[in-house]
Amino acid sequence: MIEQYLSPSELKRLLSALLVVALFIAIMALFGFLVVPGTRNVNQPQTATAVESPQGDTGWLDPTDYPAAARQVLPPLDPRTVMTPNPGLMARGKVLFAENCATCHGPEGRGNGPAGVGLNPQPRNFTQPTGWVNGYRIEDIYKTLREGVKGSGMVSFNYLSRKDRMALVHVVQSFGAFNHGPEDPKALDALAKLFASSGEVIPDKIPVAFAEQQLESEFTPAPPIPGTRTNPLLKEAVTDPARAAQTLAGIPRWREDDKALATAVSIGLPGNGFSPAVATYAPDQWKALQSALAGH
Ligand code: HEC
Repeated sequence: MIEQYLSPSELKRLLSALLVVALFIAIMALFGFLVVPGTRNVNQPQTATAVESPQGDTGWLDPTDYPAAARQVLPPLDPRTVMTPNPGLMARGKVLFAENCATCHGPEGRGNGPAGVGLNPQPRNFTQPTGWVNGYRIEDIYKTLREGVKGSGMVSFNYLSRKDRMALVHVVQSFGAFNHGPEDPKALDALAKLFASSGEVIPDKIPVAFAEQQLESEFTPAPPIPGTRTNPLLKEAVTDPARAAQTLAGIPRWREDDKALATAVSIGLPGNGFSPAVATYAPDQWKALQSALAGH
């Protein structure tokens, strides 16, 4: 049909023209779908810090550790905002309770949290008016949070701010449908005055790992043993002078009591800085070693 209108050479040209157009469209499509979306972010600034997974340091993921919290200096509290419950205070208290207390006291304050199972005495059941040691009035619960209950798993929570502790007081009371009064007006008044009159300082909290590191750096090495290189007796008996000095520092009265010295050193063999040979020393050899260690 089309041959009626076009000569074979014209047809060929038409086809090749079509081919060029098709190729052009294909290239444009490729460009539009692949190249353009890829360049969309080019002009955006690179994110400042690349997120790196922690390596070799579990940090906060370590359940025995917690992040450092800087020392806080808090202004005095308006007693009206904390002496009676209000929605904001209760909401804060509920979060704090879930974080700090529910493991022992249970999510509804029934004293049946998983961490309380093995405890004696058991965590208090806040829904019952019986068995309270300090009591369930506002001032009593506040005292419990400040001081803990001696001889029980209930520790002091005085690292929480006064406001946070008051929030918890109201949450604890809210679990029990019984009457939590009568309050002691004098005690409440004293509490309100305390809140209003002075601010408070929440001390630094440092991670356990950091505290350990501090302890290590504060650890002072024991005084060195004189003559470990020169005295033949010490050369034979002491394999690691620094460690031996540390061992001696841990033995009370080793200078006066050669028997105590012999026992304590022998028990720590090997690895306490002394040669295993000392285990076979006779009493007079220990006496000689003792005076050599003392430097005479
Ligand atoms: C490690 C477990 C544990 C955690 C966590 C814990 N408690 Fe307790 N709590 C106890 C135990 C155990 C007792 C019972 C003490 C007793 O009978 O001598 C107790 C008792 C109490 C009492 C009653 C004191 C009294 O007068 O008898 C209150 C109030 C209380 N806890 C509040 C709290 C609050 C609020 C928190 C969270 C900030 C909390 N506890 C976290 C174990 C825990």
